[in-house]
Order: sequence, then C-alpha cells, then structure tokens
Amino acid sequence: MAEVKQTVVEGVDALTLNGKSDADTVETATDAQAQETAGDEATTNADDVVDPWNVASSNDAGVDYDKLIKRFGSSKIDDELIARFEKITGKPAHHFLRRGLFFSHRDLHTILTLREQGKPFYLYTGRGPSSGSLHIGHLVPFIMTKWLQETFDVPLIIQLTDDEKTLWKDLKIEEAIKLARENAKDIVAMGFDVNKTFIFNNLEFMGKCPAMYQNIIRIQKCVTFNQVKGIFGFGDSDIIGKIGFPAAQAAPALSSTFPFIFGNKKVHCLIPCAIDQDPYFRMTRDVAPRLGFPKCALLHSSFFPALQGAKTKMSASEQNSAVFLTDTPKQVKNKINKYAFSGGRVTVEEHRKLGGIPDIDVAYQLLKFFLEDDAKLEEVRVAYSKGEMLTGEIKKLAIETVTPIVEQHQAARKLITDEVLDKYFELRPLKYGS
Ligand code: TYM
Repeated sequence: MAEVKQTVVEGVDALTLNGKSDADTVETATDAQAQETAGDEATTNADDVVDPWNVASSNDAGVDYDKLIKRFGSSKIDDELIARFEKITGKPAHHFLRRGLFFSHRDLHTILTLREQGKPFYLYTGRGPSSGSLHIGHLVPFIMTKWLQETFDVPLIIQLTDDEKTLWKDLKIEEAIKLARENAKDIVAMGFDVNKTFIFNNLEFMGKCPAMYQNIIRIQKCVTFNQVKGIFGFGDSDIIGKIGFPAAQAAPALSSTFPFIFGNKKVHCLIPCAIDQDPYFRMTRDVAPRLGFPKCALLHSSFFPALQGAKTKMSASEQNSAVFLTDTPKQVKNKINKYAFSGGRVTVEEHRKLGGIPDIDVAYQLLKFFLEDDAKLEEVRVAYSKGEMLTGEIKKLAIETVTPIVEQHQAARKLITDEVLDKYFELRPLKYGS
C-alpha cells in the first residue's frame, strides 16, 4: 500500500501541474485535495486494496468503508441526505440506501437540486463482459439504477466495455462482443424501460457514433501517462490499450457522446456503481469541466462479498465465489451450504452460548442485500447474534431468498429474444426532459 500512497500523490501532482487555467485548477481542487488526504490515509489503512481489478481486505468483515471514503475523498451518505432524497422524491429510500449498502456519493446533492429545479439529468452505468453470465453481486448496481430510473423518470445509458475485457483478459474481440450481448440479455431481463434505456458495446458502437471517439480523444488529450499511472497503477510493461482505455469509460459521462439522445445540450450525469469503479470517475470529474461539461455525480455501493467471505468481492472470475444468474436451484443451494462463510461458532453449544457474528456471516450479508422486509431482517440479526438461530438455519433462509430471485431472472431472460435486445441497442432519441 506504500505504492498506493505514492501513486495517489503522483496523481495529484500531475493534476495540478498539468498547465490548467486558474479556473480549471479551482474546479479540480476539491477532488485533488481529497486525493491528497487519500495518500495520507493509505498509510494508516494499509490493508484494504480497492481498485477496478482487485478488492482485498485482511478483515473478516471486509473493507473498512469509512476509511475508504476518506481515502477516495468521496462523501458519506448520511441520514440528512437520505431524508432530503425522500423529501424530493416523495417516496421511501430504497433498502440499499436505508441499510447503508450504498454508502458513499459524489455530488448527489447537486442532482437533487437539479430535480428540485426541474432540470434534467441522466443515469449512466455499465458492465465489463468477462463471463457469459452476471452473478448476483452484479445485480446490486443494476437494481439501484432501475429504481433510480423509475423514481426520477430519466434516460439511462448502459455501457458494455467489451474492449476493456479484450485488453485485460485472454479474450478475442469476437468472443468479447458475444459476451457483451449475453450480458445485455441479463441486464434487459431486469426490466429496464426500452423507451428510456440505451445499451451499447464499445467495440461496435464506436464505429457507428463518431462523437464517442471524438470525446475519447478530447479526454485523452487532457490526461497524461503520469496521471493514469497514478490513478490506475499502470506500469511500463502494460500494453498501450490499457493506458488509453479509461477515456472510453469516461466518455459516456459527457452528454455530447450521445448526440442522438441529447443533441448539443450539456446534461448532468449520475453514475451508480460499486466503489471499485470510482478511479475512472475521479479522472472523469477532473477532465469534464476542462471540456466545458459538469462533473458526473456518483452513488457508490459496497461489495457483495465472495461466498468465501467479505475479505474479497464476489467475482465472475472465481467460479466458486459467486452465485451466477444461470445457476440451478440445486447449485445455489450447494454453493451456499458448502462455501458461504459462517459467522457461527465451532460447536452448537458454543453458538447457543456466545451467538453468531452477522457482520462476517455471508448468509446474513445475502439477506441484507436481498431480503426486503426490514422487520424480518432485524429479527434474523437478533436471533443469530443471540445464538437462537443456527448457521444451518440462516443459510436455509438465504437459499430461500436467493433461489426465487435467480429463478425469476431466468424466466425473464428466456423472453429476451435477439429482436427485443436489438431495440435497446438502436441509436435513437430516448424519452427525455423530465
Ligand atoms: P464489472 O463488470 O466489473 O461490474 C459491473 C458493475 O457491478 C459492480 N460490481 C459489484 N457490485 C457489488 N458487489 C460486487 N461483488 C460487484 N462486482 C462488480 C461494479 O462496480 C459495476 O458497477 N469497467 C466496468 C464496466 C463499466 C461501468 C461503467 C461500471 C463501464 N462503464 C460505468 C459502472 C459505471 C466493469 O468492468 O464492471
């Protein structure tokens, strides 16, 4: 992590030494200062690694998110923000917000103010197609995004970074494009409104929309090699495709990338994602004002843990770490029973006496994300903590909660034909302006 301190500080140096006008320097000061604090924080919190490719903590309860907020320079989602959110939207906050699972943000207040003023914004999120199927952890940002789209009635852009996965993995371009389409089926099966949702994969969209490539070049002109090294940890032996890629994930946060949706309006953007993607958007937020665009706002989720425990995130690259949306009920049951890390005690007697530890128990974490009933969740937490509920029982409840979600998803996905999917990929205006 000494490396993190060094790289973050280099990033700041590069940001401030990049020959910007005074106005631009002021615009970037907040993020840059935050990153400076981040460098200091990295030394005191040497254990957690969080970047777009790795999540690792030495703590059984997982990443220390409060420390991460300080390190990344984002803001905590507090009760006051949730109350404002509820007041403006006129409905209760999603349980992901209420339970602190989405825990951090950048400029969410700006988005709420825009809504109060009746001004537009759009949502942008994405997926890097590294496997044929999404896992239940991937559902988290997409569930939130769908809820936000329904709550605010705004357009949504979904980017599939098949180029990223070709560059990072042993994956041919043709295979990555296929995986992108397969993943898009999973996403569409979640029920996004086709009139308000545009999905694209970089490897095909770039040839259809010159505005995207032009914005990528504009962004690449603003960021030095030193900066991407600082932000992403790239080294001298990394292929040049990786070094240029972050601009492709940044471009959709500028509304002019989609002239067929936004014309030449400069529209604000809100990005729901897990916090591993934040480095891309720290870079984007630095560049956007220099190109005359508002900084994107962000809503960060915590990680759905690997079945083996919260020391790392559920990942599509680790088959046994994840419940996939293609798993059969039997596989879901076996995986949870066999792999879900238990916060229970070694013997039943000890468990009854001392109680279990929900914070490190993966079955409990599954419930925290997917059991919507607050009262029931609290009942489980108390019973498990007191030792009244055993590991086998909490796992059974987790299986009963997750299995129908996976089954319903599979039924919905069967209805997504190529024809249905193509509609989401069509370059067209979206319902926009609310
Ligand atoms: P990817 O495919 O790694 O992940 C897709 C989305 O899921 C989130 N995520 C998780 N959330 C909770 N728990 C987990 N265990 C978990 N694993 C992944 C990710 O943070 C992400 O939001 N480069 C991106 C694709 C992308 C993107 C974007 C993501 C392109 N543009 C804009 C977010 C916003 C990627 O490879 O995501």
